[in-house]
Amino acid sequence: MTRPIHIEPGGCRRVSVSIRAFAKINLTLDVIARRPDGYHDLRMVMQPLALHDEVLLTRQDRLTIETDDPTLPQGEGNLAYRAAEVLAQAVGHPLGASVIIQKHIPVAAGLAGGSADAAAVLQGLNRLYGLGFGPERLAALALRLGSDVPFCLLNRTALAEGRGERLTLLPAAPRVPVVVATPHLSWSGPKTATVFRHFRTEAVDRRPDLRAMIAALSERDTAGVASHMLNVLEPVAISMHPVVAELKRAMLGEGAIGAAMTGAGPTIVAIAPSPAGRERIAHAARRFTDMVVETEFLV
Ligand code: C5P
Repeated sequence: MTRPIHIEPGGCRRVSVSIRAFAKINLTLDVIARRPDGYHDLRMVMQPLALHDEVLLTRQDRLTIETDDPTLPQGEGNLAYRAAEVLAQAVGHPLGASVIIQKHIPVAAGLAGGSADAAAVLQGLNRLYGLGFGPERLAALALRLGSDVPFCLLNRTALAEGRGERLTLLPAAPRVPVVVATPHLSWSGPKTATVFRHFRTEAVDRRPDLRAMIAALSERDTAGVASHMLNVLEPVAISMHPVVAELKRAMLGEGAIGAAMTGAGPTIVAIAPSPAGRERIAHAARRFTDMVVETEFLV
């Protein structure tokens, strides 16, 4: 979604574009098999949230990336910088821009914030420079940046397979009020790699019912969507950090009609029965963490 904020007088060359980079959650996440390249094949129902970062791109000679979150790498260490480099490589010349990222999506939370910002940079530079890259070419570049980045270009309810790059559109979810709550945890190594390393197929006792989830989406059945949310990585994260289960229990205890961890965690996403119910659930989650956001599905 883009909003041109300034058009040069007398011409149609954009000097700035502002892009909203939406968070994503997993309604379901299943691990299918370990691959020879060390990754796992996944099958996931993915849903964008209204929660988003703002990415403002302005033409200039050099490429610079700044964010208002001091814990994130500014400049070259940021995935958004790599996104600009990958696109510049594909066109064969540098694409200078000032990129300013206003963060609202919790970081390292399983909400694909970094991937969303990178996707926004691909889209933003494509428009700023009138490159004319279509969705497929952008998606191929996006995959070089990370498994979630192609989905972040799409921003619609979808089935994601492979590492997350094989996308099939699904019926759009209803506009459901949700709470996302991210406990502050420390991991023994990089979070996603650690969670996958501890995953054991033989330990999985419940897998997502994909058919039931898709049927619930088709019928716009919020209670059905909520009751079929399931992530096979959740028990792995809970075994390392039991507070994730306590947080989930507290949100369900306050009236959430469904809740599950997203991605490799540790964020719990809870579906609220109403906007008023969402407030109560958020209040309960704040006993565990200050990273609690009240939002809704992006439709
Ligand atoms: O996608 P990303 O590079 O952040 O993943 C970090 C690590 O998590 C990978 O190196 C791999 O060990 C593990 N992973 C996996 N299967 C996936 C995604 C990540 O095994 N689909």
